[in-house]
Amino acid sequence: MNKLPSYDVLKQLSQQAKTRHLASLFNENPDRFSGFHAKLPGLVLDYSKQNITKEEREALLNLAEEAKLSEWIEKLFKGEKVNHTEGRAAGHTALRDLQNPKPEVSKEWEKMEHLVDRIHTKQLRGFSGKAITDVVNIGVGGSDLGPLMVTHALKGVRSPLAPELHFVSTLDGKQLQRLLKTLSAETTLFIIASKSFTTIDTLSLAKTAREWIESHSPSKAGTLQHFIGVSTNTEMMNDWGLLPDHQLLFWDWVGGRFSLWSTIGLSIALQQGIEGFKSFLQGANEMDLHFRNTPFKDNTAVLLGLISVWNINFLDLAGQAILPYDSRLKYLASYLEQLVMESNGKHVNRAGENVNYRTCPILWGEVGPNAQHAFYQLMHQGTERVMADFILYAQAHGNTERHTFHHNLNIANCLAQSRALMIGQKGDDPHKDYPGGQVSNTLLFEKLDAKHLGMLIALYEHSVFVQSVIWDINPFDQWGVELGKKIALEILQKIEAKDASDLDSSTQGILQTIWDTQNEN
Ligand code: F6P
Repeated sequence: MNKLPSYDVLKQLSQQAKTRHLASLFNENPDRFSGFHAKLPGLVLDYSKQNITKEEREALLNLAEEAKLSEWIEKLFKGEKVNHTEGRAAGHTALRDLQNPKPEVSKEWEKMEHLVDRIHTKQLRGFSGKAITDVVNIGVGGSDLGPLMVTHALKGVRSPLAPELHFVSTLDGKQLQRLLKTLSAETTLFIIASKSFTTIDTLSLAKTAREWIESHSPSKAGTLQHFIGVSTNTEMMNDWGLLPDHQLLFWDWVGGRFSLWSTIGLSIALQQGIEGFKSFLQGANEMDLHFRNTPFKDNTAVLLGLISVWNINFLDLAGQAILPYDSRLKYLASYLEQLVMESNGKHVNRAGENVNYRTCPILWGEVGPNAQHAFYQLMHQGTERVMADFILYAQAHGNTERHTFHHNLNIANCLAQSRALMIGQKGDDPHKDYPGGQVSNTLLFEKLDAKHLGMLIALYEHSVFVQSVIWDINPFDQWGVELGKKIALEILQKIEAKDASDLDSSTQGILQTIWDTQNEN
């Protein structure tokens, strides 16, 4: 990035930007919103509360051209192997192209539709012949967070035939054990969701679930009725014993954190019905078309990505807060933590050389009104400069007087916070002084439904891709998570052998304390 001609221009421009107060941009141009927003049907991105001028935006757009962003977008959509360290394409956009489906994708959609239909119409029955009432998705990372986030958000508009959905991800086992106490083995179905089908978190939970069913079921055949596998790994699904018509496939060209668009989205399809799942894909596809075909200056995903680059690399901001003003988006921040930081948390460029610039924000977040009473203090008066994304919906989720009241209250709070962070307020008492100048985007969607949620997720996916192109890094691998997994297996062996002698003193000290505590009890 720092070898591109516009990098120096932007560095130069950032000197003046760093000394300017964001509010001065509104004073100079009272109609600032009109020149600093972008839209497509269903979404307005207001970035007028960013510390950026037209000249700086122009230089950022030039940087994108110099980084050959258009060529990279084409490579992504044409299925080239953009994930070069794993020799794979990143084909999530192909999954939502319902007009031109790949034959292998159509085949799995049909299989998924059939399974959804069997569950909805109570044809899929457990070992005792009773119909399935509860479905538990066992998976972690991309095999959990996307479906969890989406099904939580869309709970209120689910198909009347939908079973109750539950999600289990944590390998400590407590979450699953607590859940099992509330369920009946006769009527519970488990989805074992794992791209690799080798993840110890998921496989250990699946084994506990299997033992639970086995302890109630009179036969192996009966037990297997209670499990569906979703994976790229047929061999491992067969070894586990999953029935052929209980196996759904996806492909290595679908990244884990992009897999909710594939058969990993089975729980979404169960909740929304196949038509609802299709409108989720369609919303994402509308964003794909917008991203691929809209000039950069009007392109919401490109602008969102470039604004982050401006903030991170030129204005020295490291934190990004995700602030949805809708409790239905409770899990959005967790989902984006993986999408953003597993993608762009990299320190080498595509050629494998160390980069000497920042590559990824530290992202966190919370439902806005709750966050106001938690960490907003830091944003208003702390020493950290933070960029925030406010997410808001124009339509209320109901039409009674109370719905309208709550909706207006919510809008007022969202707009009050972004305005207060921008404008600040001088106080005679330093403790009551608000510096202001904290930058934010507001993403205003028409309403929260399957289609607009698809659009929101695809918007972030593409903005992450835009940033990766500017930073010249591969956003589609995640080697960083492998080392910890390997060491965990080594330590597990040491624990089982009760011998930590060749480990570092911190690990030894903690293990010894654990063993002493266990011996005392
Ligand atoms: O944590 C690393 C990771 O590989 C994620 O990228 C992935 O979403 C998660 O583990 C789960 O992997 P799998 O779906 O193969 O079980």
